[in-house]
Amino acid sequence: MIYSRITGTGGYLPEKIMTNGELERIVDTSDEWIKTRTGIIKRHIAAENETTCDLAEHAALKAIAASGINPGKIDLIIIGTTTPDVIFPSTACLLQKRLGIHGCPAFDVQAVCTGFIYALDIADKFIRTGAATTALVIGAETLSRILDWTDRSTCVLFGDGAGAVILEASPEPGIMSSHLHADGEYNELLQVPAGISRYPEKLKNGTAFIQMQGNEVFKVAVNTLGRIVDETLEANHLEKEDIDWLVPHQANTRIISATAKKLNMSMDRVILTVDQHGNTSAASVPLALDVAVRDGRIQRGDTLLLEAFGGGLTWGATLVKY
Ligand code: UT7
Repeated sequence: MIYSRITGTGGYLPEKIMTNGELERIVDTSDEWIKTRTGIIKRHIAAENETTCDLAEHAALKAIAASGINPGKIDLIIIGTTTPDVIFPSTACLLQKRLGIHGCPAFDVQAVCTGFIYALDIADKFIRTGAATTALVIGAETLSRILDWTDRSTCVLFGDGAGAVILEASPEPGIMSSHLHADGEYNELLQVPAGISRYPEKLKNGTAFIQMQGNEVFKVAVNTLGRIVDETLEANHLEKEDIDWLVPHQANTRIISATAKKLNMSMDRVILTVDQHGNTSAASVPLALDVAVRDGRIQRGDTLLLEAFGGGLTWGATLVKY
């Protein structure tokens, strides 16, 4: 039996930091409101000439170094992103060139904040079926490019960044199970309602921005994340106490606390980065994973529950034996 295992992680955040105080000067908001409603203190914003592929490359090189592999061994590249560098080619193909890799499949997955969980599941299935042995799986975003900096209900929430993992074939698990879901019925709750084919003029004049009915998204997020925790535990015949670490999507500390409560987990077993990173969409889970691996909290053999929720609406979870 072939499984896939995470053998290296990497993360990258742009140098420029934007604090809540700076946002107070741009829109009618307050540090107090942002902290109490979301938990966010600061976020990183890509420089004008810095792209999603730039962030992904930094994170990928760190993950490659951590795993100790030769980049030439990589035979699959998947990037979860909603903010690709260009309409096409995919950001994964742009990155493939920078890494000097030729010939292997490389593509992007668009599942908004659940993009990394989707990408990880696809890579795991490539490896389990023998179609790949060594996958580079990334979540990378420059969400700052699709924010309306006059809309206080969205611009205070998001940030830029990238997280990466190397996933290798292994006789031992690894990825235990993944559970992906979507319900397009809710597509209008969280969207950029313009693009290449619908209202292309907004894309051309730079007004294709994120819109969110935050309160509605919040309620669906808490419910669906609660259900997916049960689904993941049942599929693996595990009890709540068997989870060592919750590595959640970093949208809001109140949503994360609700999921931790569902797992009877104290917050010191939850990896929390939303305070430092804001919501980095598909980058949030691999960035949080990398932070906790590098600071030594997550150790080999630990059982991790990764989960995410986002536009689509999409949601998903992965159980990992690290
Ligand atoms: O990653 C993808 C998934 N996304 C999420 O999971 C996000 C889910 N939603 C949320 O996290 C929360 O709904 C938000 C943080 C977005 C908003 O928090 P909320 O507690 O749901 O606030 P609200 O939208 O109900 O707004 C409450 C009040 C409103 O004022 P009134 O109508 O009560 O007078 C808003 O206008 O807060 C106001 N408000 C703000 N005030 C200061 C909204 N944004 C701001 C702001 N600063 N930035």
